[in-house]
Amino acid sequence: MSTPADSTVANPPRPPWWNEAVFYQIYPRSFADSNGDGIGDLGGIEDKLGYLELLGIDALWLSPVMRSPMADHGYDVSDPRDIDPLFGDLAAMDSLIESAHERGIKVTMDLVPNHTSNQHEWFKAALASAPGSVERSRYIFRDGKGENGTEPPNNWPSIFGGPAWTRVTEADGTPGQWYLHIFATEQPDLNWNNPEVFEDLAKTLRFWLGRGIDGFRIDVAHGMAKPDGLPDHDWELNELMRNSDDDPRFNNPTVHEIHRGIRKVMNEFPQAMTVGEIWVRDNERFGEYIRPDELHLGFNFRLAETEFSAESVRAAIDNSIAAVAAVGGTPTWTLSNHDVEREVTRYGGGDIGTQRARAMAMVELALPGAAFIYNGAELGLPNVELPENALQDPVWERSGHAERGRDGCRVPLPWEGAEPPFGFTTAATTWLPMPTEWSTLTVEAQIEDVDSMLSLYRSALELRASTPEISGSDIDWYGSPPGCLAFRRRGGLICALNTTDEPIALPGGKVLLTSAPLIDGQLPTNAAAWLI
Ligand code: GLC
Repeated sequence: MSTPADSTVANPPRPPWWNEAVFYQIYPRSFADSNGDGIGDLGGIEDKLGYLELLGIDALWLSPVMRSPMADHGYDVSDPRDIDPLFGDLAAMDSLIESAHERGIKVTMDLVPNHTSNQHEWFKAALASAPGSVERSRYIFRDGKGENGTEPPNNWPSIFGGPAWTRVTEADGTPGQWYLHIFATEQPDLNWNNPEVFEDLAKTLRFWLGRGIDGFRIDVAHGMAKPDGLPDHDWELNELMRNSDDDPRFNNPTVHEIHRGIRKVMNEFPQAMTVGEIWVRDNERFGEYIRPDELHLGFNFRLAETEFSAESVRAAIDNSIAAVAAVGGTPTWTLSNHDVEREVTRYGGGDIGTQRARAMAMVELALPGAAFIYNGAELGLPNVELPENALQDPVWERSGHAERGRDGCRVPLPWEGAEPPFGFTTAATTWLPMPTEWSTLTVEAQIEDVDSMLSLYRSALELRASTPEISGSDIDWYGSPPGCLAFRRRGGLICALNTTDEPIALPGGKVLLTSAPLIDGQLPTNAAAWLI
């Protein structure tokens, strides 16, 4: 007689789709433009689904496409339940979801719960209302310090530079309270102690999930909760665009209640997932975010922060696996995104940077768990040194021109042709200028070339999907000479990386793929290989 327990043994639950998925991050402004205004849009993404299918990814992550005045290019949301006209409309989103699903591609989108735009109806109402009002209680308003409240309520800086507080003018024209914004002035932080804030987020989650969205990337998932009393901090070690683990602006314990609330809503849609942006270095604290009743996945940025040396890469891998092991979570891997320098440049630029980026793509895609590819990485795009008058990231102005910001990794993708805009748009100019040298990096130039970065990505993704040896949730390290590493997936795949200046002998086995031609059977410098 079979009991419910027996039937579980006979049919173990299938792992959720995101456990081994390859996500492709689209920065919508920069992917493809369908309406000729020089800025990418949803129609452009739908037009390129054939390319994405050919590339072999499983899911898309769209950086924000909701209504936004674009002070931070969409990360300042003025209506979370509508599409910004720059990108299209709800019908364009529905159509993209449907067409992607027809090709077996999932669609996930960015969600920005830490703050809104200053053009959100709530914030406009807060400014029009009195201190202490219900309208103000959705944000973090405080009286200033000092005589007449002329000093900010505490000494927190904004991540983008300058103070994290802006003083408002009250309805009667007098200088008034201050509001908190961890990012730009146009991005007021929400007050997560106000239950209305969660209720509204739950509405947003159900709105998109009901339209067929397969999940969310949660922006600043370690933010939201603020410490009682908003205490001052000793900022001596503070850097722009970074936070340390003792930073009072982030990772406050009550953030986990928020994630548990989000998970309860997500559980109504069991095929959908969340991945959080979590800049928390301590592994135990990091793991807390992906306990079974919180986020499904958490971004681990170690690989994106690591230099090209076998020792550092190995440490980053060990660390990322350890961070999730304690809570039985799935590791995630990423080499770059819209906030960091592109890997070709980070690894030294030019031919060396490209060779190393090829090798690291193979390392990333060999690892157990979910992988995230940032659009253009598959073309080997480098960061672009843009002229100062082209810079648009709020970081440039807010840092008093001390930091150039993130525009260099957000330049539109080159599709075809010999000169800018390389088929990205029919407009004469693009929102960020495209370098003329990119003619050799277009999709058209690479797609038929077996030695191109694009072909390497396609081969690696195809093998990842079809090779039984690329399986198992853990890795074992092989002994390897200094400057090299080799690990084996439990299913049998071996991945070797050479970061020395000399070719090295490969472990035994059949070679499946290499990032550079072998030299007398040996793995060249700045290269990786897969063997079974
Ligand atoms: C996250 C995003 C970044 C954005 C910031 C504020 O860090 O990745 O691009 O500027 O949040 O929303």
